Order: sequence, then C-alpha cells, then structure tokens
Amino acid sequence: MIIKILTLFPKMFEGFISESIIKRAIDKGVCQIEVIDMRTYSLDKHHHVDDTPCGGGAGMVLACDVVHRAILANAGSNTYKILMTPQGLPYKQAKALELAKKEEIMLICGHYEGFDERIRSFVDAEISIGDYVLTGGELASQVVCDSVIRLLDNAITKESHEDDSFSLGLLEYPQYTRPIEYEGMAVPEVLLNGNHRLINEFRKKEALRKTYLRRPDLLADYQLSKEEEKLLKEVIEEENKGL
Ligand code: ADE
Repeated sequence: MIIKILTLFPKMFEGFISESIIKRAIDKGVCQIEVIDMRTYSLDKHHHVDDTPCGGGAGMVLACDVVHRAILANAGSNTYKILMTPQGLPYKQAKALELAKKEEIMLICGHYEGFDERIRSFVDAEISIGDYVLTGGELASQVVCDSVIRLLDNAITKESHEDDSFSLGLLEYPQYTRPIEYEGMAVPEVLLNGNHRLINEFRKKEALRKTYLRRPDLLADYQLSKEEEKLLKEVIEEENKGL
C-alpha cells in the first residue's frame, strides 16, 4: 500500500516512520509512506500557504489553490483522498479495515485555524479522530496510518489483530503474563491449566464483561451467538450480585 501525506510540517513524521512496527512495515515493503510538503506548492515567493479569512475574523485560513495543486501533483486516479478534520466522520475500526484494502490513500493535514471550505470538494472522505480540536491534522493522520498499517498483510501476525478490541465488535479480553502472582494479584487459574476449551470460554466471557461494563453501546450493535447470550446472562447476574 502507498500512503501519501500532505502536510506543512513534514518533520512531525520523522519519529513516526522511524520506529517500531511502522518502520518494520516500511523496511519489509508492506507499505510505502511519502510525506509531501504542501508549502512547495505555493506560488507565492515567500511560500505563503494561508491568508486572512474573507469577511474578516481572527486567524488565517489554509488556501484552496495550494492544497489543490499538491493533490493534483501527487494523487493518481486510484488514490483515495482523505481530509483530516474535526468536522469529519468519527474514525472507527471499520474504516481502518476499509482503508487497509485500498491500493493508495492520501491523508491531507489541515493546520492553523481552518481551511478554505472549497478544499472539501477535492477529497473522497473527511475523518475526525475524536471530538476535540488538535492544532493540525498531523497527529490525526498518524493515528489513521498506524491503525491501517497494522492491518496490512505481513505487518504483524494476523492473530495479533484478529482479537483486537473493536474488530470483533467487543472489547478485547484481559491478558496476563508472568509473574503469575504480583503484589497479591494472581493470574486467573484457568489460564494456567492448558485447557483450551476453558481458556476460550473464559476469554469470551471476560470480553463480554468488559464490553458490558465499559462500552454497553457496542453490545447494542453486536450479534450475540447462543453461547455468548448465555455467557452474557451469567456476566449480568454476577455483576448484579457484585461478584
Ligand atoms: N485536525 C484537528 N483536530 C482533528 C481531529 N479531531 N481529527 C482529525 N483531524 C483534526
């Protein structure tokens, strides 16, 4: 997959692409990340990329011609173009799964107080990573990149993301590793006896418990199997008893 990032602050991506799973994915050829400085598409001799808002008001507005030139020079007919903005659709795992199937995506990072409304007409989607306002789209685009890259073949083992929170519609079950006992807190016995049927049942039930307690909104959209229905009933009874 090719990921192109349009930004006014390319240095903000140096750490992101040079560490951990993202670096390994790039080195293995799983994905290619191109960070493109939008400023080079300004025709102004001082490389201005923004101007004062029409109609007055505080701050500066990112100009549509600069962004459009940067898009036209770097996007092909197969490029799925995404504007990073707090006004976009809330980002969910389902969108990450959809993006991971694309050949090429482009993430456009706005900055400053805002961008010219006409920029919206150049893109295929607008994404918000949450109901808060960042100083720019750079961190948001890294969130999207990270969540997409880990889903690509050979980035990490498939099993590592198959049980992810959200990808199955539930929060992930609790995980433990050694030491078996720490400061009076023990790893649940069932995980130590090697009985995979019981381990799977424990994990299913605890994923349901976590989701029930922390994100009941996810359960409302989740299709429970017969077994899960029974386990959830047990969870609810246990929680009501204060177990
Ligand atoms: N740019 C600024 N805030 C943002 C947000 N919450 N999501 C995506 N892009 C942004």
